[in-house]
Amino acid sequence: MSLKFAYWVPNVSGGLVISKIPQRTGWSFEDNAKYAQIAEEAGFEYALLQTRFIASYGAENQLEAIALASALATVTSKINLIAAVLPGLWHPGTVAKMLSTIDQISRGRVAVNIVSGWFKGEFQSYGEPWLDHDERYRRSEEFIRVLRDLWTKDETNFRGDFYRLNNAPLKPKPISTPPVFQGGNSSAARQMASRVSDWYFMNGNTIDGFKKQIDEVKALAAANNRSIRFGANAFIIVRDTEEEARQVLRDIISHSDPEAVGGFRSQVLFAGKASPEQEGMWANSDYNDLVQYNDGFKTGLIGTPEQVADRIIELKRIGVDLILTGFLHYDEEIKAFGDKVIPLVREKEARLAALLVN
Ligand SMILES: Cc1cc2nc3c(=O)[nH]c(=O)nc-3n(C[C@H](O)[C@H](O)[C@H](O)COP(=O)(O)O)c2cc1C
Repeated sequence: MSLKFAYWVPNVSGGLVISKIPQRTGWSFEDNAKYAQIAEEAGFEYALLQTRFIASYGAENQLEAIALASALATVTSKINLIAAVLPGLWHPGTVAKMLSTIDQISRGRVAVNIVSGWFKGEFQSYGEPWLDHDERYRRSEEFIRVLRDLWTKDETNFRGDFYRLNNAPLKPKPISTPPVFQGGNSSAARQMASRVSDWYFMNGNTIDGFKKQIDEVKALAAANNRSIRFGANAFIIVRDTEEEARQVLRDIISHSDPEAVGGFRSQVLFAGKASPEQEGMWANSDYNDLVQYNDGFKTGLIGTPEQVADRIIELKRIGVDLILTGFLHYDEEIKAFGDKVIPLVREKEARLAALLVN
């Protein structure tokens, strides 16, 4: 399968880095309509919308993911829209209904990213209980099972610890069952992925770090007679020379906002670090890593188009199926990536495939 490209929809203000560096990245509906149209023409197959309810990492304003996905569906024709959802703030029946409606509007282009939560403040603000780390995953797994049942069965009867449904119908069904993505890298996240998710998203990492997760989750899924695909996050800085690209990274970090990064750092202690094994997302991230709030610098897609394309091929070789991209200047860089990097990756993939055949 050829590599897929996704981009982070900037549906929260402040861009994808916690930095005061000037960014030509908007967050409004109008900006996002423009980015989605540019992205689908540039060769991106997925747009990932974030879920966020209160300001964190300097993201003062946040558009809701499902509502925005519905609007983006009407101004695009090819790109798949992955809306992030936080179990605990919604009932899965309501979400199943909203997503099947967007699936109708978009003619089969909706997907969901189940995020199990790391931000206790959101739950406190919105008045819902905050569960322990692994309990959040138990709830997410039930949430996914309810979504799938409603999307595929005539009537859903579900008796779980978190949700109950009684002869629940859902019509119209989605045109095709929306793929289920998930974020989260702890042991509970990996096990849940192996049982119920179609895609496992990873925060930015080294090649070895990605490989370790991929091998483990693949083996867990195989033990459950399932297969799963992998998406890797990366913050992309492509410039004509490697030095220019590295300078942009230094500028982003030197303009970082210590107060916002510090606040974010204290909030993410409720993620992987709060799991029984104390591993998972952000468990080993340092200050500079956290300036991109999904560890996107670690992946190293920073350099010339050729260097970045080569590293993307390395990621493909270890089992990555999708590259999730974020940029400093969305106004120009989505298109530039489509013009300069995606065609190079396609050439290199073709060469790789020929090598494997011979
Ligand atoms: C690609 C990706 C996207 C994510 N999107 C969101 C999001 O939109 N909102 C959110 O609150 N958490 C988001 N998360 C966080 C996770 O869903 C999860 O809560 C966090 O990774 C903690 O996981 P862990 O404790 O299993 O390591 C995302 C994670 C990844 C890897």
